[in-house]
Amino acid sequence: MRTPRSVRDADVGGKRVLVRADLNVPLENGSVADDNRIRAALPTLQLLLDRDASEVRVVSHLGRPKGPDPAFSMRPVEEHLHGLLGDERIQVLENTRFDPGETKNDPAFARELANGSEVFVQDAFGSVHRAHASTVGVAELLPAYAGLLLERELAELGKLLGEVDRPFVLVSGGAKVDDKLGVLQNLGGKADEVLIGGKMAEQVREGNPLEFVVVLPRDVVAAAEFAEGAETRVVPYDALPEGWLGLDIGPETRRDFAERIGRARTVFWNGPMGVFEWPPFAAGTRAVAEAVAGVDGLTVVGGADSVRALHELGLADRVTWVSTGGGAALELLEGKELPGVAAIPEA
Ligand code: 3PG
Ligand code: MG
Repeated sequence: MRTPRSVRDADVGGKRVLVRADLNVPLENGSVADDNRIRAALPTLQLLLDRDASEVRVVSHLGRPKGPDPAFSMRPVEEHLHGLLGDERIQVLENTRFDPGETKNDPAFARELANGSEVFVQDAFGSVHRAHASTVGVAELLPAYAGLLLERELAELGKLLGEVDRPFVLVSGGAKVDDKLGVLQNLGGKADEVLIGGKMAEQVREGNPLEFVVVLPRDVVAAAEFAEGAETRVVPYDALPEGWLGLDIGPETRRDFAERIGRARTVFWNGPMGVFEWPPFAAGTRAVAEAVAGVDGLTVVGGADSVRALHELGLADRVTWVSTGGGAALELLEGKELPGVAAIPEA
């Protein structure tokens, strides 16, 4: 794997530094509901402050807004960050996705982002699979370096790229189905078993586009509506009553997945099994988290939601590596070059 040059080798004293972090965190009632990604960004920010950067501008996207939208503002994130690292040299710019130029990697928007900064540090591991203005465009305009989190992620996830102990079980769930199916297609051959839950399972059941056998849920916790207090019923996965929604894997599936994970020597888990933020639909994600934590071997968990679940269950220190990247981790595992990493000169 190519090693991008490190922020540790950057001359930042007295300079204005632009840092791309992945501060795409869940917000609830206008404040940060899970700050793992913010905490993961701290070591690089601290390093820049310690080395006397004159200004540290942190930039990130948050969610998938269609344009400027106060519900996706970075202000609560900035407030939270300042609570963790109170230094007035740090500021958080507004959500990059408020500008349509971000996802198009529009050079004009990249220039706007880079304007006034002298050094660029890429630390947004969770976003380096996107060729956007804030991940690739700015890296072509400013001297670019990899942040400490990005470096650590590449090193830890790199362990899954070589020979691993088997069985290697891949567990995938979560909401970004279209993004992930293509990646899974390329990954399927590396794993001995691929377990699929969550929304992705529904789509795969309707017509499996994957060219390998996957393990799908047998039963589901069905809800009469999309609400925390909805009436629920456990039904076979292919017998969802008309108009009902599958919001978690059912008890039989939990046992089945936990057993398969329990036999593994290497596990990569990305994406929750259901709407775990709501207690009636949390059991599937909990069962997977506990099974992964119990494995004696190399265990890697990626993606904001799975990581949040792991932390909430107090299991984060029982897995080998907790990655801030979901899609990015999957694409790295595929062996793909990540555009946000490729844009940084080599060490
Ligand atoms: C994530 O949460 O996976 C990253 O922040 C990337 O977000 P995106 O899938 O909206 O690009
Ligand atoms: Mg996400």
